[in-house]
Parts: sequence; structure tokens; C-alpha cells
Amino acid sequence: MASLNRTKSIDLLMKDSGADGESALKRTLGAWSLVGLGIGAIIGAGLFVRTAAAIAERAGPSVTLAFIVAGIGCAFAGLCYAEFASMIPIAGSAYTYSYATMGEFVAWIIGWDLVLEYAVGAATVAIAWSQYFNKLLTIFGSSPIPYQWSHSPFETMTGTGVQGIMNIPAVLVLLVLSLVLVRGTQESALLNGIIVITKVAIVMMVIGIGWGFMNPANHTPYIPAATTYTTKLGVTHAYGGVMGVLGAAGVVFFAFIGFDAVSTAAQEAKNPARDMPIGILGSLVVCTILYVLFAHVLSGVATVDDFRGAGGEASVSFAIEKYMIGYGWLANLVTVAILAGFSSVILVMLLGQSRVFYSMSRDGLVPKVFSDTHPKYRTPWKSNLLFFFFTAAFAGFLPDSIVGEMTSIGTLFAFILVCIGVLILRVRRPDLPRSFRVPAIWVVSTLGVIVCSAMIYGLGVDTWIRLIVWLAIGMVFYFGYGRKHSALEKGNR
Ligand code: ALA
Repeated sequence: MASLNRTKSIDLLMKDSGADGESALKRTLGAWSLVGLGIGAIIGAGLFVRTAAAIAERAGPSVTLAFIVAGIGCAFAGLCYAEFASMIPIAGSAYTYSYATMGEFVAWIIGWDLVLEYAVGAATVAIAWSQYFNKLLTIFGSSPIPYQWSHSPFETMTGTGVQGIMNIPAVLVLLVLSLVLVRGTQESALLNGIIVITKVAIVMMVIGIGWGFMNPANHTPYIPAATTYTTKLGVTHAYGGVMGVLGAAGVVFFAFIGFDAVSTAAQEAKNPARDMPIGILGSLVVCTILYVLFAHVLSGVATVDDFRGAGGEASVSFAIEKYMIGYGWLANLVTVAILAGFSSVILVMLLGQSRVFYSMSRDGLVPKVFSDTHPKYRTPWKSNLLFFFFTAAFAGFLPDSIVGEMTSIGTLFAFILVCIGVLILRVRRPDLPRSFRVPAIWVVSTLGVIVCSAMIYGLGVDTWIRLIVWLAIGMVFYFGYGRKHSALEKGNR
């Protein structure tokens, strides 16, 4: 069993990062591009769709506390990510880090688990995109895509019994953005910069204008009494009280996912040792402040019942239209900006996904097709296309609550392993240069593990089971393929 623990040496990792020739990725991103990349990945469906779900199903107005819990968990994990990224500045994110610290088997688990974060995450945002796209159609006076063709087979329209068949807009947006990625990341980063500015501006406008429309009754009591709530899918969650906040934290944690995607672009950063910590922590701090304010406003403007009913879809536009009289233009602007914003999130997540599998493929753990680069664009284009089919299957046929919570749990699990991994590396390889060091590493790492575990606990048993099933499928692939094809196994490393 020793081979399960084999690690890829840091020196080898660094050598790989300098790989040139056909498979090398272009180094085009500076610190600000990385912060932009981070915010581009961060503000999205978590804020504009999942927040309303957390209010409706888990925590009411105390969703703001949930954002604080999630933000704290991310800060701990973010510090650990930053140390790793400053030390091992190559593509692959948590996967690469764990290969160097905890061995091939754990690395495989993380790499496999990151599919939940990036690919399933992209699918979640695509579903949210579809909701706001329908809103956009109504703004322009055309009829929305019929319910059947903009929802999964698991969803039924309240009151009519009409059932979804396939979410076509969600699939289409994934197709377009996968093709953008095939074309190359430099162009995508520029577009991303414009979108990021729009997105932050919209969030600030909703906070600023919405503040005056808050109804104190909606904030009373701020933390609802502990009870339960059964969702439209028939799942019963804790609602209110401490468990409500923890569950909501697991749900809105989705809104923070992405700052770590910055680390997947390390191989494309101009000066990774300095820029990665700035990119990761900078984007995290900006977003946490915005989220808490935004969630306070949203839960103050509309009621919990709104979000349990029609306001459960395209919730922000809904709340503005219904309660912020005279600001219809804001609802329209928000809808357009959100669509653009979601697109940038999907782009970064798909990018992160292809980069993780690029690294895994170069290590032999997944087939070579995932690291074949395009002769002209130098992008892992085959991987981009394969992941289009994968993400489309999730986005087309599952509801956002299921894929959203799978994304959260997968990412939380990866964060826990990163918090542990950075500590292991401090003990085993104190000698390695680190341009960024986590302060009070034992405290930060331990608290990171505790807070992320608490959020996993809050998500509930259905989601735990999905994670376990996903990891079990991963084991089959590892023992059936990865272990035998590993470049370390073949001794050519
Ligand atoms: N944080 C990203 C979002 O909320 C994934 O859409």
C-alpha cells in the first residue's frame, strides 16, 4: 500500500511548472488580473440565487450570520491556500498541493472532489443563469422559455403541476462558454475585467438603494426560532436557530467558492509567489463585506414567504420589482448585469476544472486527452469540450438546490484537506521557501477544519450521501485507471 502514499516531490513540481514546448500554458496574468479573476469567480449564483434559498429554507434574515460563518471558514482556508500557492506556484490547485504533501491517493481524492467544486459548480451557476435569462425575456416583452424547457425533471411549477423536462438555456450557456475557453484565457480575462466592475457596481447599488426599502418586520426575529422546513423537493431541513445558521452557511458558502480558483491559474501568473496571496485574500475580503450587506438588504426588503414562492427564482429582480417601487430600471439593470456576471463565474469555474484535470492528466492519473493542448490556442480544448458534456448533464437535468449543495460540500471537503496539508508540509518540509506564511498556523489550520466541518454538518444527510457516492465512484476510477497509469508508478518521474 506504500504506493498510495507516494508523493510528487516539490522539486519535480517546480520543474513541471517550468515545462515548455507544446504543453506549456502562457503566463499572462498579473496580481490585479488575479483579484479580478477571483471576484469574477466569486460573486455569482451564490449571492443572487442561493442566498434567497438559504433565507427561505434555512435561516431567514440570520442568513447574514451564515455569511459571516462561511466567510470565516474561507478566510482560514484561504490563508492556507495562499501559503500553498506561494510555495508551489503551478496549475492544479488543491490537487497539486496534496500530491506533494499527502500522497497520490489523497491527491486523487481531492482532484476528483474538485470536479464537484468546478464542474458541478459551473452547472449550478448555469441553472441560475437560466432563471435570470427567463426574466430578461419578460423584460423585453417576449414570453419566457416554457417551464418544461427551462427546468429539470425534478421540478414542478407551483399551482399548475407542469413538470420540467430539460433546462435548455443552462446547457446553451455552458456550450458557448466552453467554446470561449477553447479559444484561450487571455481574451477571457479581459472580458472578465469588464464584467467584474459591472457586477460589483450592481451589488453596491442594490445595497445602497435597497437599504431605504427594508421593512423592520422582515428582520424580526432576526434569528427565527428553531424548527424544520420541507422543501419543494420533499427534503426536510433544520430551519432557524443555530442549526439553521449552520445549514445556511453551508448553502451560501457557495457564494465564496472561486477565490481558490485563482490558485488554479498559478501557472499562468506572471509572478506567482507575490501575486497569488494577493489574488486569493484580496478577492475574499472584498466579497465578504459586500455579501453581508447585500444579504441584510435582501432579507429586509422581501419576506421569507416570497422566497418560498415565486421569489425563489431570479430572487433579486423579483424583490426589487415587488417592493422597490419606482426602481423597475434597477431590476432590469440587475438582470442584465447578473447574466453577464454569471457568465464570468461559469468561465472561471470551467477554466479551473480544465486546469485541474490538465495537471492530473500530466501526472497520468486521468487520460492524456485532458492535457492535449490546441496547436494554435494552446488551451486544453478537448478537456473543455468533454467537460461541456459533463456539466450540461448536471445543468440540464438536476435542480439547483441539489447541484448547489453538492458543490458546497465538495469544496468544503477540499478546503479541509488543504488546511491539513499545509500543516503537514510545515512539519515535514520546514526548509522550503514560502513567500507567504500563514500566521499561527496551528490555530488557523485547526479552526479552518472545524468551521468547514461544521458547515458540512449543517448541510444535512442527503448531501453527505451524495459526497460519499461521488467519492466512491472516484475510488473505482483510481484503482481501475489512475493508479496503474500514474507517471510516478511508471517510474518515469
Ligand atoms: N461563488 C460563485 C457563485 O456564487 C461560485 O456563483
